[in-house]
Amino acid sequence: MRKSLFALCFALLPVTGLAAGGGDAHLRDMTPDLHDKASLQNGMQLFVNYCMGCHSLEHQRFARAAEDLDIPRELVEEHLIFADAQAFNDQMDNAMEPAQGESWFGAAPPDLTLVTRLRGADWVYSYLLGFYRDPQRPTGVNNTVFPLVAMPNVLEPLQGVQQQVCGDGEHEDGGAGCHLELVQEGAMSPDAFERAMFDLTNFLAYVGEPSRLQAQALAPKVLIFLFIFAVVAYLLKREYWRDVH
Ligand code: HEC
Repeated sequence: MRKSLFALCFALLPVTGLAAGGGDAHLRDMTPDLHDKASLQNGMQLFVNYCMGCHSLEHQRFARAAEDLDIPRELVEEHLIFADAQAFNDQMDNAMEPAQGESWFGAAPPDLTLVTRLRGADWVYSYLLGFYRDPQRPTGVNNTVFPLVAMPNVLEPLQGVQQQVCGDGEHEDGGAGCHLELVQEGAMSPDAFERAMFDLTNFLAYVGEPSRLQAQALAPKVLIFLFIFAVVAYLLKREYWRDVH
């Protein structure tokens, strides 16, 4: 029995190995850090300034984000809520109808509340860093992880312009042997821009699982409680059994 269990474990090894290494080779690693409040705050600010014109976060309220990210209500109302019709307790929605978006861009900008859960943080991070110049596209840009994307590169003023350079110097669609080069500088250095995209992806990861922040804050308290409870239970047990022995 023990032998066959052992054999089973070995048989499963390659499978788990594959699963762990099965990521897309051209995706950049991004592990969200929900403890980094400064990063999340910066991400929220970037989102509201650069993304919310087109994308909503229907399942996130300003008030909840403000509370979780320690942003005072006045600051949110002053700097992060632009639309007159929106209030502190509203969802982070926008006024764009999907049909409008579709006729303007060819594809409606989707709601992004769950995008890091659908696509993964690595994908979103790589997507934000993956825009490059492509004169054949109506928007003038293409994307390494989302070929023929309908979204314009709204972050170009910050990032600058990237060009895809492939092995033989020709421009090809995506794929192996190609990399991106900055051909025109933006307002941010490449490092600062990557950091900003980390923050933005981090914020979207938080939005996808807002309860995780609370759960993580609660976890140590639960463990301390369990520890103290175990000590008390043990002492009580000793007390009860003293007379029996
Ligand atoms: C001018 C409008 C516009 C703005 C501003 C904009 N987007 Fe988009 N975005 C789009 C459109 C349109 C699509 C759909 C692309 C498609 O399906 O080809 C899209 C798609 C996406 C997707 C892919 C979603 C999916 O799963 O298919 C992500 C992620 C995304 N946008 C993130 C952002 C972020 C982050 C910002 C802010 C930096 C932003 N977008 C700003 C128009 C916009």
